[in-house]
This record gives sequence, C-alpha cells and structure tokens, in this order.
Amino acid sequence: MATISQKPKLVTIFGGSGFVGRHLVQALTKRGHRVRVACRNPNLAMHLQPLGNVGQVHAVQANLRNRASVDRAVAGADHVINLVGILHESGRQTFDAVQDFGARAVAEAARAAGAKLTQGSAIGANLDSPSDYARTKALGEKAALETVKDAVIIRPSIIFGPEDKFFNRFANMARFSPFLPLIGGGETKFQPVYVGDVAEAYARSVDGTLKGGKVYELGGPEVLTFRQCMEEMLEVTYRKRWFVTIPWSVARLQGRILGMLPGRLLTLDQVKQLGNDNVVSEAAIKDKRTLPGLGIAQHSLAAMLPAYLWRYRPAGQFTRKQLL
Ligand SMILES: NC(=O)c1ccc[n+]([C@@H]2O[C@H](COP(=O)([O-])OP(=O)(O)OC[C@H]3O[C@@H](n4cnc5c(N)ncnc54)[C@H](OP(=O)(O)O)[C@@H]3O)[C@@H](O)[C@H]2O)c1
Repeated sequence: MATISQKPKLVTIFGGSGFVGRHLVQALTKRGHRVRVACRNPNLAMHLQPLGNVGQVHAVQANLRNRASVDRAVAGADHVINLVGILHESGRQTFDAVQDFGARAVAEAARAAGAKLTQGSAIGANLDSPSDYARTKALGEKAALETVKDAVIIRPSIIFGPEDKFFNRFANMARFSPFLPLIGGGETKFQPVYVGDVAEAYARSVDGTLKGGKVYELGGPEVLTFRQCMEEMLEVTYRKRWFVTIPWSVARLQGRILGMLPGRLLTLDQVKQLGNDNVVSEAAIKDKRTLPGLGIAQHSLAAMLPAYLWRYRPAGQFTRKQLL
C-alpha cells in the first residue's frame, strides 16, 4: 500500500455505498482521509461507518439526477469520485440521466468547488457503441474531461470480489441448474480484476499518483473467455455443469423479454456488450495506464475466488477452517 505524506483530505464518493465503494472507503480511511459517501439511500450505507474511525465516514443523501443534492454533497470536498453506474434502466434511472447527465452534474459541482475529480467508467466505453451502457459511459468520460481538464478516468474490466454480481450470480445459478448458458458460445474475452486492486487505483488517484486528463484501464493478471470464467467458478465450487450455447439471435430475443421482467436477469443491452471483448488495450499497456504501470500487484482469480465462492460448494464439501 502506498504511503502518503499529505494532509488528510475530504473525499466525496458518489455511489460509495456500492460494491467498489466499500473497498474504496476502506483504502481511503486507512490513508487518514475523511470520506463522505453520497448515495440515494444513505441508510443503506450505514455498514460503511465502522470502516473508519468515529466521524471519519459519513453518508449523505444525493441523487445524480438532482443537481442541488450533488452540489451539497460536494461542498468543501478536496476530491470527488463518481462511482455511480447502472446495469439496466428503471423508471427515471435511465442510462442517459445517470451516466451522462449525472456525470456532468458531478463534474460541474467538482469544478465549482475547486475539487479534483476521478470519474468511474468501464472498459468498452465508446461513443459509437450499440450498447447504451457503453455509449453513456463514454459520454460520462467526455463530460468529466470537458468540465475538469485534469480529471482522471478509470475504466475497469469486470470486477470480482466477495460482493460481486458476476461470479456470485453464476455460482448461485449452478447450485440449482444443471446447465449454464454461454451466449455466442462464451467466447467473449474478459480480464477480471480484483475489487481491492481497483479500489487501490482510485485511492492512488486521490494521492495524486495518476496523471490528470488520462484514461486508465484496469484488468487482472489473466485474460479469460466467459466460458473459462465459468470453468474456473465451477472448479472452485466443486461442481460439474453442462454448458449450453445460446446463439446470438436467441440471446437478443431473451434479452428483450427478460429485460422487461422483474429482476432483469438479462437485458438486450447486456447482450450487445458481450459482442466485444472486455480487455485492457495495447495503447494503455504501452503508456503504463494500467495496474502494473501503477505498480499495483494484480490478484488472480485462482487466489481470490475460493475465499468467497466456497459457500456455494455442495454441503459437506467445506473445509473445517471455513466452517469455524
Ligand atoms: N462491478 C463491475 O464489474 C464493474 C466493471 C466495470 C466498471 N464498473 C463501474 O464501476 C462503478 C462502480 O461499480 P459498482 O459495481 O460498485 O456499482 P454498484 O455496486 O451498483 O454501486 C452503484 C452505486 O451507485 C449509487 N447510485 C445509483 N443510482 C444513483 C443515482 N441516481 N444517484 C446517486 N447514486 C446512485 C448506488 O446507491 P443508491 O442506489 O443508494 O443510490 C450505489 O451506491 C460504476 O460506475 C460501474 O459502472 C463496474
């Protein structure tokens, strides 16, 4: 962990109550910073308070769709981090409202407050993408950089860790289903990155180690296809399952239907995202805008998955240590 020789800062994290947020709060409080967690429902962020000393972490109500609440959450902050992202739309939570206009609201508030800005994005962000998630992530990057010239953009590949929505979801599915679906044969490539490594990169942005105006791409130590990710998950959970290839045309139809049902197991937009590999670009590697470039050691799936997927193993296959 990097040490800092700077005075404690006040850092506002929009979306700090989410998956990456809780690990980032921990990385920042360890450095002695004060953290203001801004989210729509601060009551759901109470679990974060024990991650710091008394008074070091506090939650405030803010909605990226409400400019006044964004301004209040940013007031007095030295650094603002925007971790808000949505996987599917629901009511007024549209991709454009949250990931484009919301990102612009955060950037304008940061500029008005004279605060530094780190904008959370995702590998695959592209203004021309057919996926609304990826297109609005790119618009959010553009809004951040147009408004705050030295903003830092962080684009991770798929993030894994104890609270992830990817490996946990498929490990849970494998408990009940004899089949696992592979859209388009499961050939899409990912570079799964550990949540602690992602949080460390964000914390180093607060340290001032990352270059302003640049886009950093974060991936783990290995590139795996979706199918290989599922194989790794099955090995860790001691299960054998059949893979069923879902042709792209069928997946698109499923996405259209399931995307309208409660729970939104799969959306058309997610199927569109799977059309492109999700790995760190050669340009980012060359410019050292990556985890190794920052000197952050990447945790592998093999090292980290057993620590939290063990609970999906068949009964009787936990180790004694895990049960105690
Ligand atoms: N997880 C991944 O695999 C992954 C991969 C690449 C990039 N990313 C990006 O990394 C960032 C963090 O991801 P995550 O997995 O930590 O997300 P997450 O767990 O879904 O957290 C999202 C956060 O955003 C808040 N939020 C949602 N709508 C909001 C709104 N209108 N106003 C204010 N807050 C709002 C949520 O809290 P409330 O609901 O209480 O408001 C929550 O704290 C996101 O930008 C995501 O797109 C994630």
